[in-house]
Amino acid sequence: MTALRLRSPLSSTLLATALLSLAGGACAQDKLKVGFMLPYTGTYAALGVAIENGFRQYVDEQGGKLGGRAVEYVKVDDESDPSKAADNANKLVKRDNVDVMVGTVHSGVAMAMAKVAKDNNTLLIVPNAGADAITGPLCAPNIFRSSFSNWQTGFAMGKVAAERKIKTAATITWKYAAGDESVRGFKEGFEAGGGKVVKEMNLPFPNVEFQALLTEVSSIKPDAVYTFFAGGGAVKFVKDWSAAGLGNSVKLIGSGFLTDGTLEAQGDAAKGLLTTLHYADDLTNPKDKAFRLQYAKTYKLQPDVYAVQGYDAAQLLGAGMVAVKGDVKNRDGLVKAMESAKIDSPRGPFTLSKAHNPVQDFYLREVTGKVNKNVGIAVKGLADPARGCKA
Ligand code: BEZ
Repeated sequence: MTALRLRSPLSSTLLATALLSLAGGACAQDKLKVGFMLPYTGTYAALGVAIENGFRQYVDEQGGKLGGRAVEYVKVDDESDPSKAADNANKLVKRDNVDVMVGTVHSGVAMAMAKVAKDNNTLLIVPNAGADAITGPLCAPNIFRSSFSNWQTGFAMGKVAAERKIKTAATITWKYAAGDESVRGFKEGFEAGGGKVVKEMNLPFPNVEFQALLTEVSSIKPDAVYTFFAGGGAVKFVKDWSAAGLGNSVKLIGSGFLTDGTLEAQGDAAKGLLTTLHYADDLTNPKDKAFRLQYAKTYKLQPDVYAVQGYDAAQLLGAGMVAVKGDVKNRDGLVKAMESAKIDSPRGPFTLSKAHNPVQDFYLREVTGKVNKNVGIAVKGLADPARGCKA
């Protein structure tokens, strides 16, 4: 009787379905689940896309696998909106059960992600956002950054500005962690070298109504204006600056985001601008040459610093995954290997500080034609001070 029931068409269908779903479940578990939380809309949309492109490029170069595990992706558009950040990160962790979160661009959103990552002990790799807190007070064994701290990029330009005998500077930026911290880093480097920041101006993110601030610059007449803007906002700022004709009397300088991934849209308005960043468009190391060639071939676009940071986020994760032979649950082994990895980056090789932030060279770049040309090392092997990191 039992045997007859098992052989009935309905029972065998059920059995087959159960076996198939078991097999499907096992397969899905075998994959490494990467959750991208990035901006795909808004002023930072192009930055999010470049990070994802770079990450995928490295994984594709490894045959679609890291540490022997095939990689699958889920994506959330964080809209660069800090008020939605905790919910978005929780979706990746609790609904999608990702093995690792990769995100994001905006410092305010990234700080919320770091809190979710800490609360749930989820591995997080930050492929851009420079919020000092992430490798400062929020530092943790499960949180890594493949990019920079806001302090690093500002400090490098402050040092260069003082060395170039600029005496007074005003600052203009968006009023949120990235702008505030970039300016603070600039001020530290600039004033230590004898310069003086005479005025700090800002506007809310992602506002681009710069006119009132530019009028103020023309009345203050500092030697230079230091800026942090990126993405669509950077394009508008550089064009407005050029249209205001301030360039003849006041020097515009910035962290390199001002001119990275933006030069096509900025056109002649960006000509000659000096910025500092951990990447330039004409580096000569073989890794960068191969990276740029493959990126242009795959995406029909020139890469930028964001693509490099995405590529290196995947390299960093890959170093951990290889060491644990794909066993992502071996967190101690994974973290240890990631901490000690020497990343062969297109920007040049780098290692991580104790707080998991890149220790790296900062280049002085000058916009020449459509490239950010490397005109020398601004600061060699610059480490973020990791103020407040107790891990
Ligand atoms: C940030 O919010 O940390 C950031 C955004 C764009 C470029 C660089 C930094």
